[in-house]
Amino acid sequence: MLTLDKLTKHFKQVKAVQEVSFTVSGGEIFGLLGANGAGKTTTLRLLATMLTPTGGTASIEGIDLRKEPDKVRSRIGLLFGGDAGLYDRLTARENIVYFARLCGKSEEDAHKRAVELAGAFSFTEYLDMHAKKLSKGTRQKVALARSVVHDPSVMLFDEPMVGLDVTSRKDVEDFMMALKTQGKTIVLSDHNLNITERLCDRIGILHKGVLTAVGTLKELCENHGCDNLEEVFFKLAGRSAE
Ligand SMILES: Nc1ncnc2c1ncn2[C@@H]1O[C@H](COP(=O)(O)OP(=O)(O)OP(=O)(O)O)[C@@H](O)[C@H]1O
Ligand SMILES: [Mg+2]
Repeated sequence: MLTLDKLTKHFKQVKAVQEVSFTVSGGEIFGLLGANGAGKTTTLRLLATMLTPTGGTASIEGIDLRKEPDKVRSRIGLLFGGDAGLYDRLTARENIVYFARLCGKSEEDAHKRAVELAGAFSFTEYLDMHAKKLSKGTRQKVALARSVVHDPSVMLFDEPMVGLDVTSRKDVEDFMMALKTQGKTIVLSDHNLNITERLCDRIGILHKGVLTAVGTLKELCENHGCDNLEEVFFKLAGRSAE
């Protein structure tokens, strides 16, 4: 379970995230929607302890990220789209093993986990290829594998499907649904409304750093007199925050 309690981040005069509060339960996918610059990535970075909040806090299973950031970090898996952030000079296997070792796994367990995850994500044949030679989709699969190497209870996805073809997008989608079935707590930020609609149990709309609405798709439509998510989006988040 993930709880945000008036989470706030200001960059000098830019109020990127303003007193955002919501809760996501295990087995739930929470969608974060908003125009460019609305504060989605900043929110996810705060949750991943990559940024320090200006105010408020958040907790995972009751562990406060301001009090015990290391404990929170070990329970979080993070996946950004676009550049998968792999080390180009290392092979797929070495990337995963390296990350597993950073997470405290023994050499033997790290290697076992690499093989297991490559099987799960169907990239076994690429395990020993250097990351720079991998296709974008395979790179993203390796990044996915790396993001769950430590079996986190909370997964944060920031535009995980950017640049992927239909098949690879489906792989990411299936992966998210499998994590949901395993009872993981998931936050997904994606500009694609179809994906958000299909995958998310509840959706939060951010506008200029403020959470303007939270609910199931049905609740959002009913509460705002809209027929679909696109209408809700235009009504509550239509304009760019920048
Ligand atoms: N490191 C930073 N320093 C200063 N301002 C920042 C920094 N990171 C983000 N911002 C500002 O905070 C606001 C929120 O940015 P953020 O990246 O969270 O938006 P976003 O919702 O993820 O947008 P997008 O849909 O374009 O990815 C923007 O005004 C952005 O310029
Ligand atoms: Mg962003």
